[in-house]
Amino acid sequence: MAEALLRTEKGLRRAIDSDEPLMTDLSRHLIDAGGKRIRPGLTIASAQALAEHPKAPTDDVIRGGVAVELVHQGSLYHDDVIDGAETRRNVKSVNVRWGNREAILAGDYLLARASEIAADLGTEVARLLASTIAALCEGQVREVRAAFDPDRTEGAYLASISGKTAALLAASARIGGIVAGHPQEAVDALSAFGHHYGLAFQVVDDLLDVMATDEELGKPAGNDLVEGVYTLPVIRALAGSAGPDLRSMLGGPMDLATRDRARDLVRADAAIADTVATARGFTDQARRDLASLPPTPAIRTLQVTCDLLADQMSPFS
Ligand code: IPE
Ligand code: IPE
Ligand code: MG
Ligand code: MG
Repeated sequence: MAEALLRTEKGLRRAIDSDEPLMTDLSRHLIDAGGKRIRPGLTIASAQALAEHPKAPTDDVIRGGVAVELVHQGSLYHDDVIDGAETRRNVKSVNVRWGNREAILAGDYLLARASEIAADLGTEVARLLASTIAALCEGQVREVRAAFDPDRTEGAYLASISGKTAALLAASARIGGIVAGHPQEAVDALSAFGHHYGLAFQVVDDLLDVMATDEELGKPAGNDLVEGVYTLPVIRALAGSAGPDLRSMLGGPMDLATRDRARDLVRADAAIADTVATARGFTDQARRDLASLPPTPAIRTLQVTCDLLADQMSPFS
């Protein structure tokens, strides 16, 4: 996997190289800042899912991983404009270092480069990547529509994260399976894994936004409340005993002192343990999605990936 991820890094830099030096600088900014590369990791593991003795992934598998990581990064460029976020991966966000115009253009550029690679991988992959980008936009617009709404439902929240996050994780796994030529049932099982893992992943991200610090995250903590994005822990706290107090602080812009008081209410609420339980339910489902596949090294890697996500929640349950 380490070797495959090194090839992915090279592929990412090659894919974004532009004759226009500013575009290269803008696009390299977040690639150079790091990131966990979970999506290409999922593509690579899915391609190797059926192999007892996995060989080095083909160039097409690596390119599939590059395409999904480019979509992810393009969506982050736009997301940080939408959320007004000042840091990402421990460095200044593109919107703060250069400006919103540059972040929007570079985000579009990354999506375009991803589409180019996907087209080389065949019609099925190109179509999947395009419909995934559409799902991402739909998920994000659902979030925008629910902004500052203290009556946002759990169903509305789940529909949003299913589009904005789980769709790309499902596609990352699916592309690995398609490019490797796996049978349809295996491709479907891997996609289901990516979807449920993706739901858990966003619930954990939303939990950490409430529970963690800026330093721990490498991006602003507590920003969801300020931006009016009321996520699962907040939706559940609103339904509990602290609900009336919390509700009086939500519904519109808030200063940082109010943000801290609202956050303390949510942190102290049973909603936190309930949110952990929901995320664990999704990782359990993700593990079950793998049950029909053979116990290969790559499948064990996917299971360990679920364990690592579960570990991130253990301080809060
Ligand atoms: C951040 O994704 C956006 C969410 C879906 C929560 P990651 O946590 O995978 O971000 P990087 O790529 O490691 O920076
Ligand atoms: C994930 O949502 C954004 C995308 C899937 C594009 P968030 O807004 O919670 O992501 P972070 O917390 O900024 O990484
Ligand atoms: Mg954000
Ligand atoms: Mg977040």
